[in-house]
Amino acid sequence: MKSSLIISRIIVGSLVISSCTYDETTENTTGDCDTNYTYEAHVVSLITSECVSCHSAGGQPPMLTTYAEVEASLQAVKNEVVIEKTMPPSGLTADEIKIISCWIDQGNPEN
Ligand code: HEC
Repeated sequence: MKSSLIISRIIVGSLVISSCTYDETTENTTGDCDTNYTYEAHVVSLITSECVSCHSAGGQPPMLTTYAEVEASLQAVKNEVVIEKTMPPSGLTADEIKIISCWIDQGNPEN
């Protein structure tokens, strides 16, 4: 009786673990860039609504208010948004992460 309880806990536990793994896989969309993304067409609106409230003059570095500023912090942006998913603190949708991720992987064209 006791051992079957332990076994069922192990099964439930591994189900929880595998469902978390599944979520991570579906959020990792970096291999699936079906659009040519540009800063002007796709990225600036996202950064303006999700990042600039904190990352602008008088706020938290790095500044992200112009193409040149975003380009200067590109690796840090990729790391925070795509890899660590720590920015913005409120999180992005998988589609929004994909825009940033694909745009950087495509060489971050301005337009
Ligand atoms: C609510 C405020 C807020 C928003 C919105 C926000 N950030 Fe940040 N960001 C911070 C703070 C605070 C830090 C510094 C502390 C930290 O790293 O957590 C930071 C740090 C960073 C860093 C530097 C990390 C490092 O270690 O050098 C980058 C890059 C960054 N944010 C990118 C972004 C991007 C891109 C967005 C939008 C997708 C964004 N942030 C949205 C508050 C914010």
